[in-house]
Amino acid sequence: MKAVILSAGVGSRFRSEKNKVLHTILGKPMIWYVLQAVKNSSAENIAIVVGHMAQEVKKAIESEAVSFYYQSNPKGGTADALIASADMWRSYDGYLLVINADTPLIKSQTLKNMERFIHMVKEYENVTLSAVVLTGFLPDPTGYGRVIKDSEGNVIKITEEKEASFEEKKVNEVNGGVYIFYAPHLIECIFHIKPSEKTGELYLTDVFKIMYQRGYKTRTFMAEDASEIMGVNTRWDLAIAENVVRLRILQYWAEKGNTLHQPESIWIDPDVVLEGDVEIYSDVTLSGKTKIGRGCVIGRGCVVINSTLGSGVVLEPYSIIKDSRIMDDARIGPFAHLRNECVIGEKSEIGNFVEVKKSAIGKDVKAKHLAYIGDAHIGDGTNIGAGVVFANFDGKRKYEAHVGSGAFIGSNSLLVAPLKIGDFSYIAGGSVVTKDVPDGDLAIARPQLRLLKGKGREKLK
Ligand code: UD1
Ligand code: MG
Repeated sequence: MKAVILSAGVGSRFRSEKNKVLHTILGKPMIWYVLQAVKNSSAENIAIVVGHMAQEVKKAIESEAVSFYYQSNPKGGTADALIASADMWRSYDGYLLVINADTPLIKSQTLKNMERFIHMVKEYENVTLSAVVLTGFLPDPTGYGRVIKDSEGNVIKITEEKEASFEEKKVNEVNGGVYIFYAPHLIECIFHIKPSEKTGELYLTDVFKIMYQRGYKTRTFMAEDASEIMGVNTRWDLAIAENVVRLRILQYWAEKGNTLHQPESIWIDPDVVLEGDVEIYSDVTLSGKTKIGRGCVIGRGCVVINSTLGSGVVLEPYSIIKDSRIMDDARIGPFAHLRNECVIGEKSEIGNFVEVKKSAIGKDVKAKHLAYIGDAHIGDGTNIGAGVVFANFDGKRKYEAHVGSGAFIGSNSLLVAPLKIGDFSYIAGGSVVTKDVPDGDLAIARPQLRLLKGKGREKLK
């Protein structure tokens, strides 16, 4: 089977400068979902018809093994779009899957089932189908093409909303915008489609009437899950489709053995992996290429982007982790912020209101309160006191600080990088450290304390 995805349309109902198929669902363009479903069907050869904002659409999927065809008039209609790809299938003696790029809820299994249906009709009824169209029954079919069938179930025609009579509008069986055509019959019929008198467009759906008149058999195939046939034409449709995709992903991970508390508030992007026994609380977002190890607990309100968590990691509520790695059994948060390629070693604890940027932190390190750690390397077992700040920026350049293992950085110290603090060294609280501290030394850099007898009480009078 070959496949063509139609994505050239202007999508005016979307009211967007951007081609609607580039609008995202959980961080991926709408067309990506259609392409995944097609790739996982039996289609071997995939073409995408582009037109409106062709370059941008191509760029969004350039890494995929697909070929592109160009529709010069993106208002020409869906048949005009398919004709633009005719070089791919005009001499092909086989089946062609044609799918609208605004149907992101389609499942690959449904595409496979549609193809199997064609083979079964051939086998059991000895009928060669010229086309199968995916349909669904909607309580409110407004906006969709209505499928009109004869008493034997053959499609007589598909009537678009704008062209439908009062009676036709009452038909609840609608066209899902997914078709499999027998290519030789399609090429014979498609050029007989006439422009709509109302819109001037060439409707692909008109090919069913032409096939019927020529005695070719076409059938409907009902989607198992009615959501699959949804066409995304407006921003509200997009919001609804995103919710459906989101819930499907959540259900998948729950069934794989992960606990989701209040799933209606949880967002997990398609590329995220949960290794099992993960517990996720409400209002959590996991996005990009994120991997969550076995037995992790992700507290309420956490956001994890492009990051890897080992097993048994606990994120206390409202922690933000970006582009970082956290090793096994570390504890982060609440209200911690890790960003720019941080590595946090096993069993380390990064506590509340601690920001860590581009730093490599060893095992069993504790930085439990109110600190800024930027461009630092910190050895195993070191303790970073409350309020410690790594001053890594002089207004022009960034500098690194190296802190050894087993060290103690007292509260409210300021470590002015570039700086090297040795193993087992001790920085007294409140010190401003501007020089390297050798292994095992104690550094103290703060104004002498003076005690003025009785002056306190005097001041308070
Ligand atoms: C289409 C069907 C309708 C069906 C519905 C399902 C037609 C005429 N109508 O209507 O029966 O119920 O999908 O969602 O096919 N496109 C092009 N070039 C164009 C026009 C459109 O490539 O000239 C592409 C669009 O980018 C889009 C797809 O074709 O991905 C469908 O176009 P759209 O305008 O959304 O068609 P609908 O009105 O939804
Ligand atoms: Mg549509």
